[in-house]
Amino acid sequence: MKDLMRQRVGVQENIMSLLNKQIKMEAQASATYLAMAAWCEQNSFDNSAAFFYAQSNEERDHMLKIFHYVSEVGGVAVSPEISAPKSEYGSLREVFETTLEHEIAVTESIHQIVGACRKANDYAAENFLQWFVKEQVEEELTVKRILDYFEMLGEEPMALLMIDERVAKVSANGAY
Ligand SMILES: [Fe+2]
Ligand SMILES: [Fe+2]
Repeated sequence: MKDLMRQRVGVQENIMSLLNKQIKMEAQASATYLAMAAWCEQNSFDNSAAFFYAQSNEERDHMLKIFHYVSEVGGVAVSPEISAPKSEYGSLREVFETTLEHEIAVTESIHQIVGACRKANDYAAENFLQWFVKEQVEEELTVKRILDYFEMLGEEPMALLMIDERVAKVSANGAY
C-alpha cells in the first residue's frame, strides 16, 4: 500500500531534476538582482535599486514555489548551490540588458520543462508551470519597456534620471 501511495503521488525522476534545475536558476536570479540593486544604489539610481530589491524577492518566491511543489508531489527539493553573481556593470542600460537576457533564458528554460512534462504525461506539473509561463511574459515585457526608454531618451545624465523615474512607474503599474 505504501509503495502504491508513493507511486501515485510520485514525481518522475527527470521532471524532478528539471524542476530542481529551475529552483537553482530562480535562486541565481535572486542573487543576481540583489547585486544589481546594490550597483544601482551605489550609482544613485534609487528607483532602479528598489525595482531590483523587489525583483530579488520575487525570484526567491519563484524558487520557493517550485521548491514546495517538488516536496508536495513527493520529490526531493534541493537547496541549490549558487555562484557569485556579477556585481560590476558599465551602465544602467547594461544592467537592464543583462536582466532581459536573464529573463529570456528563464522563459526558455520554463518552456523546455513544460515540453518535458507534456512528453512525460505529467499534467499536474504542466498545469503548475502555467503560472510561470504567464509570469515570464509579464517580466519580459516590463524589462523591454524599460529598455525602450533608453532607445527613446539616450544615456545622458538627465535622461538616466528620467529613466530611473520611469522605472518607479513601470514597477508600480506593471508586472512586478
Ligand atoms: Fe523567476
Ligand atoms: Fe524573473
